[in-house]
Amino acid sequence: MSESKPLQVGIIGMGTVGTGVARILVQHVDRIRRRVGRDVQLKRATVRDLDKPRDVELPPGVLTDDIDAVIDDPDIDVAVQLIGGTDPARDIMKRLLAAGKHVVTANKALLCEFGDELFEFARKHDRTIAFEAAVAGGIPIIATVGQSMSANQITSIEAILNGTSNYILTEMLKRGSAYSDVLGDAQRLGYAEADPAMDVDGTDAAQKLVILAQLAFGTKVPLDRFPRSGIDQLELTDLTCAAELNYVVKLLATARLVHGELEMHVQPTLVKCDRLIAKTDGPFNMIALEGDAVGKTWLSGPGAGQMATASAVVADVVDLAVGRAQVTFSRLDLWNDHPPVPLCEEDKIAHRFYLRFNVEDRPHVFADIADILGRHDISLASIIQHESSEQQPTSNGASIVPVVVMTHYTAQGKLRAAEAELSQLTSLHPPIVRMPVSD
Ligand code: NAP
Ligand code: HSE
Repeated sequence: MSESKPLQVGIIGMGTVGTGVARILVQHVDRIRRRVGRDVQLKRATVRDLDKPRDVELPPGVLTDDIDAVIDDPDIDVAVQLIGGTDPARDIMKRLLAAGKHVVTANKALLCEFGDELFEFARKHDRTIAFEAAVAGGIPIIATVGQSMSANQITSIEAILNGTSNYILTEMLKRGSAYSDVLGDAQRLGYAEADPAMDVDGTDAAQKLVILAQLAFGTKVPLDRFPRSGIDQLELTDLTCAAELNYVVKLLATARLVHGELEMHVQPTLVKCDRLIAKTDGPFNMIALEGDAVGKTWLSGPGAGQMATASAVVADVVDLAVGRAQVTFSRLDLWNDHPPVPLCEEDKIAHRFYLRFNVEDRPHVFADIADILGRHDISLASIIQHESSEQQPTSNGASIVPVVVMTHYTAQGKLRAAEAELSQLTSLHPPIVRMPVSD
């Protein structure tokens, strides 16, 4: 890139994030010039629908509905690719790289599924992909893991990586609302994906964990190789029962080395109230990282939303303009471990567990549950049963009451076997709710 002429930028996708990026580039020309040492000019911004209102004032001629106006413009040095999903984003990304542009993206779905292919393609064309905004929005986690922690073997990542889910969990407990009542607010506030199913079923957090784990452990773990579940099945009653036990439910993404194997999962988890991660509310993300030299570190900040994400995207543009991003990108493939770290089998993963059963309020029910758990070598730490309101009797006249059990450490496989037996008890009404506990 020539150092004297302005750096020209093209944005593809002017939705929530693209609009924020354009706003920073247009409104903070002087600030960006000082950071880069020359002008950075927004030359084109591509959308599907030219008539949609955009919450930013652009110079005449910048907005276009023609993607080729970015791809085929030899003066555009950096393309900011902000279309979500994999199709047509994957093809557009390759065309941009082949046309000689460095690419900045916030698209974790694309990088999770096709990152290796796209990185190789970029290297073949001597171009760079910068992706700080793809994980944890405005928190500089990619730079932290990919640069600042390079002296360490990272041993553990425990993180809140989906702002939408965290916002919903926070609001459910605060307002006493059902999950479906709060989802619309997360969408209106610009936190959710175009298809919010990916946020609430754990997929978005898992995609981000795949990217982080590859950087941290040098091992690419495909999305379908580790367990993930989201908050979409959670009931308010589990959040309040957890609170009663001094825990907060968070959608936790975990990747850690345990006896030389990589344990990975994304699932709603009870986190002890006094931990920093439990105090991370609203659309904020938090990443607890442990490295063998540095020890424990925590990064927290806005993980979703327009300006927070735009902040990370524009930082990547600046890094490309000064050549920092190229240096980091050119080294990343050397970090991959050969052979890859083996993945820990799901049934071997051990936790303490929270279990909630809907039971008929009649004699011997507790004893049956305790007997089955005991025979599977699962030790109970505590049990709570609230008195029944006598409002919902079953056909045999018994009321249904929730019973909450906290177990001691046990392997998931043992619990799964016990659950299969528990589900045969006629006094238990589905579902059985199970969440791991992180103390
Ligand atoms: P969005 O609001 O849905 O915006 C997507 C934009 O892409 C829209 O401007 C849309 O044009 C444009 N677009 C879609 N398909 C197109 C096509 N075929 N040709 C041209 N333009 C097309 O999405 P977003 O929230 O900004 O997210 C963008 C990316 O950033 C996603 O990968 C997302 O996962 C990621 N991300 C988002 C956040 C966040 O907080 N929102 C945070 C971190 C990362 P129209 O406007 O004309 O429809
Ligand atoms: N939909 C995502 C979230 C945006 O809620 O975290 C940030 O990647």
